[in-house]
Amino acid sequence: MPEKHLENEHLMRERALEPPAGFLERHPSKPYLSSLDEYKNMYEESIRDPGSFFGGMAEQHLSWFKPFTVPKVPNAPFLKDNNGEPSAWFVDGELNACYNCVDRWAIKNPDKPAIIYEADEPDQGQIITYGELLKQVCKVSQVLLNLGVKKGDTVAVYLPMIPEAIVTLMAIIRIGAIHSVVFAGFSSGSLRDRINDANSKVVITTDESKRGGKIIETKKIVDDALLACPQVTNVLVYKRTGNSHIPWTEGRDLWWHEEVKKYPSYYPATPVSAEDTLFLLYTSGSTGKPKGIQHSTAGYLLGALLTTKYVFDVHPDDILFTAGDVGWITGHSYVVYGPLLNGATTVVFEGTPAYPNYSRYWEIVDKYKVTQFYVAPTALRLLKRAGESYIEPYSLQSLRVLGSVGEPIAKDVWEWYNAHIGRGKAHICDTYWQTESGSHLITPLAGVTPTKPGSASLPFFGIDPAIIDPVSGKELEGNEVEGVLAIRSSWPSMARTIWRDYGRFLDTYLRPYHGYYFSGDGAARDKDGFYWILGRVDDVVNVSGHRLSTAEIEAALIEHSMVAESAVVGFPDELTGSAVAAFVSLKNRSIEDPSAIKKELILTVRKEIGPFAAPKLILLVNDLPKTRSGKIMRRILRKILSGEEDQLGDTSTLSNPQVVSHLIEVVKAK
Ligand code: WT7
Repeated sequence: MPEKHLENEHLMRERALEPPAGFLERHPSKPYLSSLDEYKNMYEESIRDPGSFFGGMAEQHLSWFKPFTVPKVPNAPFLKDNNGEPSAWFVDGELNACYNCVDRWAIKNPDKPAIIYEADEPDQGQIITYGELLKQVCKVSQVLLNLGVKKGDTVAVYLPMIPEAIVTLMAIIRIGAIHSVVFAGFSSGSLRDRINDANSKVVITTDESKRGGKIIETKKIVDDALLACPQVTNVLVYKRTGNSHIPWTEGRDLWWHEEVKKYPSYYPATPVSAEDTLFLLYTSGSTGKPKGIQHSTAGYLLGALLTTKYVFDVHPDDILFTAGDVGWITGHSYVVYGPLLNGATTVVFEGTPAYPNYSRYWEIVDKYKVTQFYVAPTALRLLKRAGESYIEPYSLQSLRVLGSVGEPIAKDVWEWYNAHIGRGKAHICDTYWQTESGSHLITPLAGVTPTKPGSASLPFFGIDPAIIDPVSGKELEGNEVEGVLAIRSSWPSMARTIWRDYGRFLDTYLRPYHGYYFSGDGAARDKDGFYWILGRVDDVVNVSGHRLSTAEIEAALIEHSMVAESAVVGFPDELTGSAVAAFVSLKNRSIEDPSAIKKELILTVRKEIGPFAAPKLILLVNDLPKTRSGKIMRRILRKILSGEEDQLGDTSTLSNPQVVSHLIEVVKAK
């Protein structure tokens, strides 16, 4: 056998730790699965016969208005026959997503808390029961119908983390419409593009938002966006702060509280087909144009439901606190859908981990006896740095599961999470997945799967991962291999397409490696078959768990009149995981005040995309490294930035090799 050369060989030596014994001590009964062997048996069945495995699960866990008779269409591996058919599950069944999230629990136990709202100010929260949620949802559904929203229409949602965000999503899907949530940190320009791409005619928002003690002029941002959205007929505005000076367009803008008063508190849920679209969620790819990732109803619901149940081991009285925003997929699947589909209670937190101080999360955990806590490592790094004095006063003994998501969790952060938050008695679940996957792909199951700090461990049911050699395109069999991560078969919650662009869906995910779904991530499989995610292999940068496209930031920079050209790359950052660096060449090189220009450039990105995309570093350069065909060599920029200029490889193929020493100088002087 040829000797293996693994860049990340050290990962292969880690030993797995058994699930903590304290997990069982804290458990109200026992985990759904009793052993790793039980997981393995179920997993094997899910791969061998996904139709019967997920068919059984879908019958058992979802309520159907019309039962499906065909559980699964995609028998063949992706594109084997290359007839371009999207994957489809439970095709002839009919159901309603809102009914599954709300009605069935409201009928059973209307007084059970569905939502615990923790407002930005610690004493202004509220608890909403399933019964109350159903009433609010029904009213908003009727408001939407009255505004002309029909089954299959998209509705744009630009809301902060308040219970009305959940009410809104449920109201939209109750009438068979499609929600398209835009993260409320996006600028008016990004919001405009997404409203127009989805062709939304109604937008739901707030007057203002409150976050970390600050006021955000939400409605004003919406109004700026709508200057270029001629198809939008109405804006429904929830009054969050009640400040009087917000902009208002008579006839178009309507107050939520005035509209809901007009309707009765019940309206029946509309049955839709299993494959009808549930929602769009825009995400960044390798080009500048965001992709409207399109999810189907039954498949997505089943994925969110089953992962919440088995990964987080959620039992009926559990209280989940996913500290993510509804504007991203984590919020969709694990603040909204997963907890509600299991009839559990979900915490909706409006604020930040640092306001009024760094104890905020732990205060919430103790206050509501949170059982599952789920967050991105970037927040954990912040809280770790703030110090233990912020944690010590809290008992945290309700916690059984500590989830991590969005980026690899470094060993020291994992160990801190385990020792100081879990106090050795909670199971750490490093969950690997994507907007496109809808729900967890590779993750431990709480109480069941041994863990290795930094590894997302083993695949969820129905996920058949493959490691592919990116050069040969061949799958690497066996253990102790590394390459790019692909998935061999379809799973129920995988995205069906990119909104109105199936060609781009095929090009991005299904054509790069024939017969596989391509994840865009590098990964290794170690000697025990555990997976290690090694980061994106495309032009996507992960900043604080936010996915940014370098091309999108470059497109924003070029909006500044002085920019000739730019190249954006990610570089490691202690707090945010990766940060954005922009190499910019200006049209006029003799500028007087470089620091003023840099500030303007940062402002441009904040304005064009949103504050979270702002480059941490701007480097003004004379030129960028290019191949003879004019392609910018970002690899060279990344190496120089990380001080690895001795590892640039052959630079003689550049059309301008002399640029290298200039770039090294600029980086050194930064
Ligand atoms: C990308 C997806 C998944 C919800 C939040 C982000 C990275 C995600 C992990 C993890 C290492 C991870 C990948 C993935 N990622 N989870 N546990 N370990 N990397 O969703 O914005 O669609 O980004 O986030 O690179 O492809 P997203």
